[in-house]
Amino acid sequence: MTNKIQTNPYQHWSLDLDADNILWLMFDRKDSSTNSLNEATVRELDEILNSLSNSQAKALVIRSAKKSGFIVGADISQFKTLKTAEEATQLIRQGQAVFNKLAKLPMTTIAMIEGFCLGGGLELALACRYRLAEDSAKTKLGLPEVKLGIHPGWGGTVRLPELVGPLKAMDIILTGRNLSAKTAKKLGVVDEALPKRVLEKAVREYATRKERAKPAFSVNSLLETLPARLALGKLFKRQLNQKISEQHYPAPYRVVDNWVKYDSKHSAAFEQEAVSIGQLLVSDTARNLVRVFFLQDELKNLAKVTDFKPKHVHVIGAGVMGGDIAAWCALRGMSVTLQDQAPKLIGNAIKRANELGTKILKEKYLVEAMLDRLQPDLQGKGIAKADVIIEAITEKLAAKQNLFSMLEKTARKEAVLATNTSTIPLEEIGSVLQEPHRLVGIHFFNPVSKMPLVEVVHAAHTHKDVINKAMAFVKAIDKLPLPVKSAPGFLVNRILLPYMLEAVTLLEEGISGPAIDQAAVDFGMPMGPIELADTVGLDICLAALQELAPVIGAKVPAKLQELVTRGDLGRKTGKGFYSYKNGKAVKTKVTSKAPEDVTNRLVLRLLNEAVACLREGVVTNADLLDAGCIFGFGFPPFRGGPMHYIQSQSQTNVIDLLQTFKARYGERFSPDQGWLTADFQKGAQSGQ
Ligand code: NAI
Repeated sequence: MTNKIQTNPYQHWSLDLDADNILWLMFDRKDSSTNSLNEATVRELDEILNSLSNSQAKALVIRSAKKSGFIVGADISQFKTLKTAEEATQLIRQGQAVFNKLAKLPMTTIAMIEGFCLGGGLELALACRYRLAEDSAKTKLGLPEVKLGIHPGWGGTVRLPELVGPLKAMDIILTGRNLSAKTAKKLGVVDEALPKRVLEKAVREYATRKERAKPAFSVNSLLETLPARLALGKLFKRQLNQKISEQHYPAPYRVVDNWVKYDSKHSAAFEQEAVSIGQLLVSDTARNLVRVFFLQDELKNLAKVTDFKPKHVHVIGAGVMGGDIAAWCALRGMSVTLQDQAPKLIGNAIKRANELGTKILKEKYLVEAMLDRLQPDLQGKGIAKADVIIEAITEKLAAKQNLFSMLEKTARKEAVLATNTSTIPLEEIGSVLQEPHRLVGIHFFNPVSKMPLVEVVHAAHTHKDVINKAMAFVKAIDKLPLPVKSAPGFLVNRILLPYMLEAVTLLEEGISGPAIDQAAVDFGMPMGPIELADTVGLDICLAALQELAPVIGAKVPAKLQELVTRGDLGRKTGKGFYSYKNGKAVKTKVTSKAPEDVTNRLVLRLLNEAVACLREGVVTNADLLDAGCIFGFGFPPFRGGPMHYIQSQSQTNVIDLLQTFKARYGERFSPDQGWLTADFQKGAQSGQ
């Protein structure tokens, strides 16, 4: 149907003119399964646009040849090579010049969007006159740059407010959220959201259109006047302050500042964007967030060593964890059978699954399909068919041993046999098995739907193939798998507990809970340790602590024991360290900052334990440790993880501080011997 003008002279793009005088510019980045924009692909695009300056074609349609979609954004690996703000700004200016060239082409330009259209990809689409998107679950549009500590740089912060007005544009840019095709259409980001079968026909119709019709009057033009920008700027910043701090995450604040300074029609707006992102690109925050992005990839890659494709999961125990694990697996497309001792217990879990599905999937038919995949299974008929069996029954050794003895005989030979235990060593459960090497831990965190990390726990005897399969399963349900050694508390709880214990000690010394929590939040934690303990459940904290106390040389605080004995278990009972009203902790207002030692005490306990974990080989390197702490309990991502943070502060300084605190507060601050071992040096280097 299309005629090549000449043999394709380009490496990443191809250009075809069809019988309707429409130019189809197809993006197919060489040697990559996804389309991302880097220096080479943008340079080539520039050459193509130069060649079109005298073209008589009716329209230019940009689309992708990749299954993964239109364009996932800029090639993030490029960011690592940037040394100075000036160098970064220069690179951004070059990209802006190419996109401006596209925007100024005399012919009609159309972005035909299928699949991912993110970051630089959406900015390219915004430089086109029209955007038509496929209405399907895989289409996702957005400007997620703030999640990497930067903001859009190829005109996105200028063109989007101009197109949809500042209110909608700021919501999209400042949150970095993804939009479905339908939402993008509703917001005016795309002109159409259509099913695949009619998309090309619509593109051909749009190819005959000329300029966009401009409304005679728009409220948005009023919102772009200086007084309105000044007032809105304050409002946007107030909204940001409710979620983040400017000191930790400056990028969204710069977007607001830039827009307040220059409205989206001002000629200096693009240059302001380039200078601003240039500075952000070389900031510590962006460098650390980019690092975290790659850590995430590292975890996913660890799960790619086997071609195991699990389809059926059998979950035993439909309580807090098992019920939610089953629901999550069904949500992610697995067939699930869910077993417990009574129909009512399974029924409760399915009710919760319905709520989760409704919240996430929204469309009724998708929720129904999800629930069809989740089958109650009182008799455990699913055991003989399942690819993965997850035990999430009560935390009792004998019960778990009995169960696995039975499973070993009845499950398929290739099935993964996994326990969700938090505290019982894998070796003890496996001691009754004929083939203990089949047993692996798949340790989810509560609440399952919100926590991105899952620890894949292995004992010395666990078969490598079993670990690989468990890793692949975790990735298949869109969680991040972290391989850890079977050791008390594994990685996440082991590091978290000393930090939480220190918080309780501070509380017992008379520092108020809200002040302690505020100190942790100011450091960048998503929630303070006292509120976190209440949220996890004080009974669960106590159980974990009793298990871990000998390992970390700690005593159970009297206050914790007292609350549990009284039945004040935290958020779930409405009372713990705090009282809860409508699910929210009732806190006294923090009027003055906690003494500096408070933050240091919390953080030093955490860092010291992290070093001990590395020394003991709970994880194999510093990158995995950092990833575990960021995705497992929200160690501030902009600090790059505990090991990376130690490097940024200098190892010697942290040890000196530990020594000072040891003299001031006691032995628990004694630097772990791991600080001086070769292992730590190796780990710390890879953490750089
Ligand atoms: P839970 O008490 O809420 O649920 C346990 C369920 O297992 C109950 O519904 C019980 O009826 C069922 N059950 C007991 N024995 C059974 C058997 N032989 N066959 C079938 N069903 C049986 O417990 P929860 O909190 O869900 O914990 C389950 C496991 O997950 C434990 O090993 C725990 O250590 C672990 N875990 C718990 C976390 C939490 O925050 N609650 C976090 C991570 C792991």
